[in-house]
Amino acid sequence: MAETQYDFGMVGLGTMGRALLLNMADHGFAVAGLDTDTGKVDALHSEGSGKPVKGFTSAQEFVQSIRKPRAIMMLVPAGAPVDAVTHSLAPYLEAGDFLIDGGNSYFKDTDRRVKELTAQGLGFIGMGVSGGESGARRGPSMMPGGTPENYERIRPIVEAVAAKYDGEPCVALMGSGSAGHYVKTVHNGIEYGVMQLISEIYDVMKRGIGMSNAEIADVLESWNQAELQSFLVEISVVVLRTKDEITGKDLVDLISDKAKQKGTGKWTSQDAMDLGMPIPTIDVAVAAREMSGLKDERVQAAKTLKPTTAGYPYPKEDAIAYLRSALHVSMLLSYAQGLALLREASKEYGYGTNLETVAKVWRAGCIIRSASLETIRAAYAANPDLPNLLMDPAIAAIVLAHEANLRKAVIGSIQCSMPAPSLSASIAYLDGYRSERLPANLIQGQRDLFGAHTYERLDMEGSFHTHWENQ
Ligand code: 6PG
Repeated sequence: MAETQYDFGMVGLGTMGRALLLNMADHGFAVAGLDTDTGKVDALHSEGSGKPVKGFTSAQEFVQSIRKPRAIMMLVPAGAPVDAVTHSLAPYLEAGDFLIDGGNSYFKDTDRRVKELTAQGLGFIGMGVSGGESGARRGPSMMPGGTPENYERIRPIVEAVAAKYDGEPCVALMGSGSAGHYVKTVHNGIEYGVMQLISEIYDVMKRGIGMSNAEIADVLESWNQAELQSFLVEISVVVLRTKDEITGKDLVDLISDKAKQKGTGKWTSQDAMDLGMPIPTIDVAVAAREMSGLKDERVQAAKTLKPTTAGYPYPKEDAIAYLRSALHVSMLLSYAQGLALLREASKEYGYGTNLETVAKVWRAGCIIRSASLETIRAAYAANPDLPNLLMDPAIAAIVLAHEANLRKAVIGSIQCSMPAPSLSASIAYLDGYRSERLPANLIQGQRDLFGAHTYERLDMEGSFHTHWENQ
């Protein structure tokens, strides 16, 4: 039997798994890795030479090399591979040991795995990890969910390797059960929303105003120095400035306009619908990726459905100012929708998620990090029960100061037939949320007329049905 000595184990020594292990080793933790691919084990040994790192190809030797209670993380593709690894390790695990799934797993799968492993006297932590390969190596944001006891076992390690915001580690327990994977799913939903918003703004600048990629990059770079400072704006500048190595042209112009997705954005929308929570900016960001996939039909329709509308209505300088405000306020609205969903999910699933803690761990290391997240954290610190970020006075002040420009930005896109679904959904969300009276009374009347579904009244208690004329 191998000598028990390693603080932490990692299954899956792809780029992410190796990067995270090396990060842990840099912080003085002795770490073990497992992969059936000897090439990856060799890569771990060469990249980790001189560090307390050891790779294994035998599950048994790997498990037995880790100190008890064993904490073993999996960084393997979501879905069947997680179950396959779990089953391959289980025979060697002992009561009190636990597995950590660091992939983008569907939260209902995590619930099932928690149940299955708990029944075997083992534990399971579903942990969202954000930041990609460089995040894993230099400091990711991590969103674990599970029991406080199991989290305590890994807390020193994950706090050491996590990204830091003003010295505070971007990792904390998100709540019980599948809370970590749920929070990561919503993180990705917001990621879809913000990526779509930036792409709509790029589209207007390019097709509507006629700006070059370099000019757009300069504008986004200047925005990124101030209130719009964010990872997604920052990387958009890089994408816009990168030249194609083969042709020397702007690479962005050569990339196919069909956006792929792995499912987390869709899961956010699906579960929001199950919970009855409106997150329209995110919903239409998912739909926009689907629309992008209909490339052949779009090419045909571009010939037969030519727009008859006028050109972009604003002078360039005005337009840039409107778009800047539009991005600021609609980004805040994306966070507001995602966090309102998290609040509801925490109640429904009994997670016990603290939204200030969520905002804290999103401030650095993750894909949706932005200057706004400190404002958002402060909002939840001031009022932990905030039903929606729009009810926070500081955030409301920003939204009210910029909403007119968001509206102008939406009008500009619509006037020249350019799709701006996430910008449009953002202003509609704001207008809906602050409408004391919505036209849902007419919907209730229609439902009662054709289906005797009944309705409630404003002026008296109870449930009513009317024998409508013309039935
Ligand atoms: C992160 C990212 C990461 C990954 C997404 C991309 O936080 O590091 O969200 O998890 O890039 O899975 O998702 P799509 O392929 O669905 O765009």
